[in-house]
Amino acid sequence: MTQEENLFVSICSSEDIGPGEEKVFRSNGRSVLIIRSAEADLFAVEDNCPHANTNISGGRFRGGFYACPHHGARFELSTGKSMTNLSNKPLVCFDIKEEDGEIKIIIPEKKKVKISPGGMPPGFGPPM
Ligand code: FES
Repeated sequence: MTQEENLFVSICSSEDIGPGEEKVFRSNGRSVLIIRSAEADLFAVEDNCPHANTNISGGRFRGGFYACPHHGARFELSTGKSMTNLSNKPLVCFDIKEEDGEIKIIIPEKKKVKISPGGMPPGFGPPM
């Protein structure tokens, strides 16, 4: 088993998401939208549309692209790339695989950036 394989965690059973279905799961402090295409391809993205930082689940999936239900921004699911000018930021994508009847993803913990009132955000201070 490689080091990368150790990072995959089981998120649900393969039967939980049939072809053409999607579900949102919470893991490691993040909301993850898992989509299975009609051809059974799996995609895992953060359930957050970068246009307005709100959920993207409940949108429309077609041909490897996902359209946000709020204003219609469209993203390529395999890369997260934005396909409209509504957002210049991509969707956050996670590695996903199906193994032994389970859907597994690598989901890093979300890092919080601490900003001090009146101060500079981390990384923007004077050199030490
Ligand atoms: S919130 Fe997704 S397109 Fe505006």
